[in-house]
Amino acid sequence: MSYARTDVTLDHDFDGIQEFDNRLPNWWLFTLYGSVVFSVGYWLFYHTFAVGHSQDQSYEREVQVAAAAQLEREMGKEVTNESLLLMTQVPAQVEAGMKTFQQKCTQCHKLDGSGDIGPNLTDDFWLHGPEPLQIYNTVMNGVLDKGMQAWKDQLGPVRVRQVVSYVVTRKGMNLPGKAPQGKSVADWAKENAAKAPAKTGDAAAPAKDAAPGSAPAAPGTTPKAGG
Ligand code: HEC
Repeated sequence: MSYARTDVTLDHDFDGIQEFDNRLPNWWLFTLYGSVVFSVGYWLFYHTFAVGHSQDQSYEREVQVAAAAQLEREMGKEVTNESLLLMTQVPAQVEAGMKTFQQKCTQCHKLDGSGDIGPNLTDDFWLHGPEPLQIYNTVMNGVLDKGMQAWKDQLGPVRVRQVVSYVVTRKGMNLPGKAPQGKSVADWAKENAAKAPAKTGDAAAPAKDAAPGSAPAAPGTTPKAGG
């Protein structure tokens, strides 16, 4: 068999178009066999043994690293919804929160958070508010007359933040458990929007301080009795 170009035409003929029977060029064959070999290595590296991170995993890792760095800068500052949400993106913090939850909270809220003595923390109904900061304030200060203790002294603010970030990641899972208690997330959203100034919090001032509906009626606005 000779490697010289022979320009032999094959016998078939499609509407007058014929085909040469040429040998494929080496550079073409190299790219073909090269990519076959590469794909095997790629498959083993990224999928079978998962040594390398996929694009999604690399992205996720970068987000986690950035969140951890930002969290470190925020740690000394005031606790906000944003800082608590940031913590939910740092797996090490959420995991630490999960461990605290398993040690301190499951006897009343169950291991999965679906509630027992305490409310279901995975449903869409909240007695003291679903926002991260509201949950933080509830856990810090407790609801002493209802059997939920204040955890700020026993756990301290950092572990409370971690356990709250864990609770926030389970929020809305709607696991079957204790029947809903309190107001729906939608109602809380309306109520929270109405008291807009209370957007950042401090643990010493629970949100319930702002008494709703306490504005005095303006004089002279009563409609006249019809006559
Ligand atoms: C001894 C039982 C008990 C333990 C332990 C306990 N809780 Fe509670 N928790 C309750 C009860 C009871 C309530 C409901 C309070 C009420 O009726 O106002 C509650 C309420 C809550 C709420 C508010 C839920 C809502 O609907 O607004 C959160 C959040 C919460 N607990 C988190 C925690 C976390 C986190 C821990 C662990 C650090 C914990 N609890 C440990 C009994 C407990």
